[in-house]
Amino acid sequence: MGDLSGVALVTGASTGIGRHLVEGLAARGMAVAGLARGEDRLRTAMDEVAAATGGRTLAVAADVTDRASVEEAVGVVREELGPIALLVNNAGLIDEFEVPVWEADPDQWWDVVSSHVRGALLTVRTVVPWMVLRNSGRIVNLASGMGTRGAPDYSAYSVAKTGLMRLTESLAGALEGSDVRAFDVAPGVVDTPMTRSMHVWQGFTDWTPPEKVVELVAAIAAGELDQWSGRFVRAGKDDLDVLRATTPADAARQLRLQPYGDTDPLA
Ligand SMILES: NC(=O)c1ccc[n+]([C@@H]2O[C@H](COP(=O)([O-])OP(=O)(O)OC[C@H]3O[C@@H](n4cnc5c(N)ncnc54)[C@H](OP(=O)(O)O)[C@@H]3O)[C@@H](O)[C@H]2O)c1
Repeated sequence: MGDLSGVALVTGASTGIGRHLVEGLAARGMAVAGLARGEDRLRTAMDEVAAATGGRTLAVAADVTDRASVEEAVGVVREELGPIALLVNNAGLIDEFEVPVWEADPDQWWDVVSSHVRGALLTVRTVVPWMVLRNSGRIVNLASGMGTRGAPDYSAYSVAKTGLMRLTESLAGALEGSDVRAFDVAPGVVDTPMTRSMHVWQGFTDWTPPEKVVELVAAIAAGELDQWSGRFVRAGKDDLDVLRATTPADAARQLRLQPYGDTDPLA
């Protein structure tokens, strides 16, 4: 399966989707650095993936919301593995209390937003300048359907994922004309510690196979979906061959206001 090369940095790599991504990218030939806060679980996960795939992995413990620790972690990755070709912003939290906005604990609420938005901002500002210098690289931000509409019980998460989509679009726009690209990848509904903690998914069985997320991210890493830069693709629903053959136009798969009709002055 070794059809990829170069170095990937995956945040939130110690469990769930991040761990699946590390495994899938390592199995396809990338050297993969995994980042998360809890060092023991991260190290164990990276060692297990290396043993299972025969690939090269590296554990860099850090909090994505902490500027100094992100800068240090990225420095270690560059030193140990080389320049980063693929950055996957996957780390992030979900609302701990499933309550309406006005009942939310402001600190916990803000921590959720920060984990997705400040986290991605800090990795982007540390990794992307090097990609721009090399005129090569891809950034994947883990998106969600909850970023495309309000979510009454998960308002922080919804705000965070909407913000992250805006960050992707702004980043892709600023990178236009270069060979560095940025994408929103929605993973579907994957069976992970996060989804297991959410009441909306209790009793749910139609999980998206994690391999679908891996396939999509691997195709992005291979440069097969570059025309989707700045846009939203969805594992388990989007067909890879259709995505490869399609060039989206206008604001397809981007967040916009819907006009109320032909007479809408904002249309
Ligand atoms: N699962 C789904 O169906 C689904 C659907 C849509 C979108 N997503 C998105 O996909 C991503 C992964 O989801 P998941 O379900 O795999 O989540 P998860 O099971 O909760 O795993 C989250 C990972 O992120 C790490 N993490 C959390 N906060 C961090 C921080 N501040 N700094 C560094 N690492 C941090 C965690 O490790 P530590 O706690 O040790 O740091 C863990 O490795 C998230 O962005 C999520 O919003 C998931």
